[in-house]
Amino acid sequence: MTAPVLEEARAHMVALAEELTQSGAIRSPQWAEAFTTTPRHLFVPRWYKQETDARGIAVWRMQQTLHEGQLPLVYRDETLVTALDPKTAERVDATAWTGVATSSSTQPSLMAGMLEDLCVGDGQRVLEVGTGTGYNAALLCARLGGHLVHSVDIDPALVLSARGRLAKLGHAPHLASGDGQDGCPTGERFDRIISTCSVPRIPDAWIEQTKPGGSILTDLALGIEGGLVNLAVHDGGARGHFSRTSGRFMPARRWAKTYTQRDRAPYAPETEARPTTVTAADIRSHYPFRLLLAFTLPEAELVYHLDDYGSMAIQLQLSDGTWARTPLAPDDPTVTYGGAAELWELVEEAWAWWNSQNRPGHTRYGITRTPDGRLYAWYAPDGRRWELSA
Ligand SMILES: C[S@@+](CC[C@H](N)C(=O)[O-])C[C@H]1O[C@@H](n2cnc3c(N)ncnc32)[C@H](O)[C@@H]1O
Repeated sequence: MTAPVLEEARAHMVALAEELTQSGAIRSPQWAEAFTTTPRHLFVPRWYKQETDARGIAVWRMQQTLHEGQLPLVYRDETLVTALDPKTAERVDATAWTGVATSSSTQPSLMAGMLEDLCVGDGQRVLEVGTGTGYNAALLCARLGGHLVHSVDIDPALVLSARGRLAKLGHAPHLASGDGQDGCPTGERFDRIISTCSVPRIPDAWIEQTKPGGSILTDLALGIEGGLVNLAVHDGGARGHFSRTSGRFMPARRWAKTYTQRDRAPYAPETEARPTTVTAADIRSHYPFRLLLAFTLPEAELVYHLDDYGSMAIQLQLSDGTWARTPLAPDDPTVTYGGAAELWELVEEAWAWWNSQNRPGHTRYGITRTPDGRLYAWYAPDGRRWELSA
């Protein structure tokens, strides 16, 4: 890192920490200090900016952080994509690719909010799942000291680069490559586990590797929707609420660079179209309602559907081919479906219940993972709970 670049970066580091403090993402002097002293540009030497090319195709354009005028961009409060899935990435010109992102430097305000929500104390040992660029590991090292920080990523190449960048700052945390859903390869136990990739279940290894009274902060991906949960670990189980910081992460993969595809039967033939009480806008604009749908319909996915006439709809679908969709057009509250009619009836029931409870926010919901591995969502005020692991 050349002295003039670091000098220029210092002003941006201070400004970013101030911005995050003012927005309420940073809530303590310890994390303010970590953000003020950790140069993000060192961890993001290049990144991919999303743009639409002349043919209307969405592409990732590579940006070099140290090129003229680029440095300030890395200190904006934005997620920066840093790796693409080679299976889907196709080169469209000298510096642009299509494809699915497989690694990124998370939006600083989301990272700061999560680090605060982690409530980590001096001397506590932390496992991060999803090393990525190493920037968040560097923040943890600045706060706790590298000897207390472990981080694992599925992609060995990312771990190698992160190790080199961390060393430049004098940090030597314990880094490993492997599937973080299997926990830390050394089998140690931690006061905190923080995951920066999403998981569909809380892995057994995380429960085993969290000390009693410790906690796990992760994005739980439940099909239709998901979110950050902060779970206290006790007696082989874990329990807690959806966290006040909300954000979503890329899914944990089983392979270093690519995602596996989900199997799905062909769509069932259309059965009926009828008026509905729930519009696409109701689903799109209410995050807590989508979470409720995820609890009610744990096997369902939510996708956008474009019909032959160019109209867009929001669609729920099951792996057996059942589907139900309602158009994005706000003046058209109809549902069309194929396969079982119950899919959309459950959506309408959930909407009626959520309204009857005065539209509770996401932090009112909780998650329990029992010692035998079952997962429940719950809503304390009326004792409702939904089994997610059937
Ligand atoms: C959002 S990025 C992490 C950002 C990172 N904390 C940082 O500060 O740059 C998510 C990371 O999770 C990693 N990942 C995906 N599946 C994983 C798995 N099963 N185990 C460990 N890491 C995984 C990806 O390779 C990617 O680097």
